[in-house]
Amino acid sequence: MVFGKQYLMTAGPTPLPPAVSQVMAEPILYHRAPAFIEIYARVLERLKAVYQTRNEVLTFASSGTGAMESAVANLIAPGDVAVVASSGKFGERWAELCDAYGAETVHLETEWGDKIDPAQVDEALASAGGRAKAFFTTQSETSTGVVNDVQALTEVAHAHGAVIAVDAVSGLGVVDLPTDEWDVDVVVSGSQKALMCPPGLAFASVSERALGVATPNRTGFPLVLVPLADPEDLDRVGHALLDRGIYPTLAPYPGVPRSEVGFRIQVTAANTDEEIDSLLLTLDHVRGALRQSI
Ligand SMILES: Cc1ncc(COP(=O)(O)O)c(C=O)c1O
Repeated sequence: MVFGKQYLMTAGPTPLPPAVSQVMAEPILYHRAPAFIEIYARVLERLKAVYQTRNEVLTFASSGTGAMESAVANLIAPGDVAVVASSGKFGERWAELCDAYGAETVHLETEWGDKIDPAQVDEALASAGGRAKAFFTTQSETSTGVVNDVQALTEVAHAHGAVIAVDAVSGLGVVDLPTDEWDVDVVVSGSQKALMCPPGLAFASVSERALGVATPNRTGFPLVLVPLADPEDLDRVGHALLDRGIYPTLAPYPGVPRSEVGFRIQVTAANTDEEIDSLLLTLDHVRGALRQSI
């Protein structure tokens, strides 16, 4: 079989080096086998070198946007002040995410093609009067090709007591970003750009300062785990929730026998009051059904 060479005229996914493609053609390792665990541990350790950090680098089975969302979801609770400085399409994504998570978003928009000016960020943070909890910005703004001064932006954010989260999806690995030396709190990246791997993995380094700001369940709404014995119950409840605009996910639930399944329902700031009332009624109903089935 002959494979035609494809030329992708975007900033990514970047072409895979032949050595990477060849490894992908090898038999797949069992993902719980010691051989895989060893490789995974080694990769996580080496990612720290790429990130130039001693902080943990978390890995996500998502595109880069998924890791961006994780930063917002963990740093922002509804009503928190978030300052976003954007200079192109991807910077705007931070503002959209902050809005979706209920932040009071202050969005400083720089002309496309220009660099973000740390002095303007200083003013935006000052205007928040010390209330800004997190500052979100972009290292390499792929839509315009501009590289921002992450070191200066980090200093400004910290001067106002805010943690900084940087989107380095297209820059990490090609533009120097010494995470620890510059004291950057969260650095988000993706597998398919400078790291020259297939898309589908994203990464985020997290400083102690950022961990201190993040607390579990930042949305302020309860996470509810409902064990269900009967797959039909699961289907029925799942549809009932989706009809109400609530998106349930299956999640591991400690203590649930193997024959049952944990049902995790996360209400976000995007849900309306009516949807939440409706959710509570549904849960009462599920609990009733559960008791009956026991
Ligand atoms: C700077 C930047 N941020 C975020 C993203 C979004 O990454 P993904 O498409 O992996 O979700 C991209 C993708 O091009 C990007 O270049």
